[in-house]
Amino acid sequence: MTFDSLLVREMQRLSTTLPALSPVITRSVLRFDGAHHGDFPRWRDAIDALLAGDAAEPALRQLMPWRKGPWQFGELHIDTEWRSDWKWQRLEPHLAPLSDRRVLDIGSGNGYFGWRLLEHGAAAVIGVDPTLLFCMQHLAAISLLGPHANWVLPLALEELDVTTGFDTVLSMGVIYHRRDPADHLKRLFAHTRPGGELVLESLVVDGTTPLLPHARYARMRNVHIVPTPETLCCWLEEAGFRNCRVVDITPTSTEEQRTTDWMQFESLAQSLDPRDAALTVEGYPAPCRAIVLASRPD
Ligand SMILES: C[S@@+](CC[C@H](N)C(=O)[O-])C[C@H]1O[C@@H](n2cnc3c(N)ncnc32)[C@H](O)[C@@H]1O
Repeated sequence: MTFDSLLVREMQRLSTTLPALSPVITRSVLRFDGAHHGDFPRWRDAIDALLAGDAAEPALRQLMPWRKGPWQFGELHIDTEWRSDWKWQRLEPHLAPLSDRRVLDIGSGNGYFGWRLLEHGAAAVIGVDPTLLFCMQHLAAISLLGPHANWVLPLALEELDVTTGFDTVLSMGVIYHRRDPADHLKRLFAHTRPGGELVLESLVVDGTTPLLPHARYARMRNVHIVPTPETLCCWLEEAGFRNCRVVDITPTSTEEQRTTDWMQFESLAQSLDPRDAALTVEGYPAPCRAIVLASRPD
């Protein structure tokens, strides 16, 4: 099998599982080419090498940086920038049973949580993420682990113009990157079936008012608003969700997000004030994240 035949097989499987997604599947396939990212040919060659049975480590290193994980492929351990398993441990006890549920994961990255959701009983997980490298990492995982009901499409939420109601919708680590959080939640609502559940995870600040970073937040240029947990619940109510529950608030530690052998760029430690780790280098409160669950009424 080659990368091209793997892609065709995966998209055919998805189309059979969720025929309503066919229009966006067609659009997604066209994104897997050199016109959408200059590094694409190198990434495709790496997956071709995996499919040919070559040593996994050199091929997977071509797909660096690995941000979400960790991963275990046989003997090979990929120590990713994020201990996403810690986020999963905070979320899992609060998730409704997923048996037979179809899950949509917005901003899925490389599909890490999709594998955890399948273990938790989900029937199928569709991730969408516009970053092509993360979609390639997902296909690398599929080429090593075999076909599963876990897909990642190279799309932004705003491009998902189909009206399939998912049983569970996740948006983790995305809303503070959006200029219009109300629009983001409106779209999440539209993708949640009546009676379905939303998982929203966001950076949050303590206090009574959201933070509007002046230029950067923890050196990120694309953080537009950091809400309070109460603001998140108000936004959710305004979008039509009910029964909002803040189930977890955890400061992000430099053990949870850090430079590793598989993500060699600077990480959280370099975004904190060296004299006071409670502050970012810009003087804002250091990153803290909340998980909120909510339901779409029947
Ligand atoms: C901070 S990461 C979070 C990844 C993962 N959900 C997690 O919680 O660890 C944000 C992800 O959202 C993706 N993203 C950014 N804008 C998006 C959009 N408009 N629609 C879907 N995903 C988006 C990025 O490519 C990135 O992978």
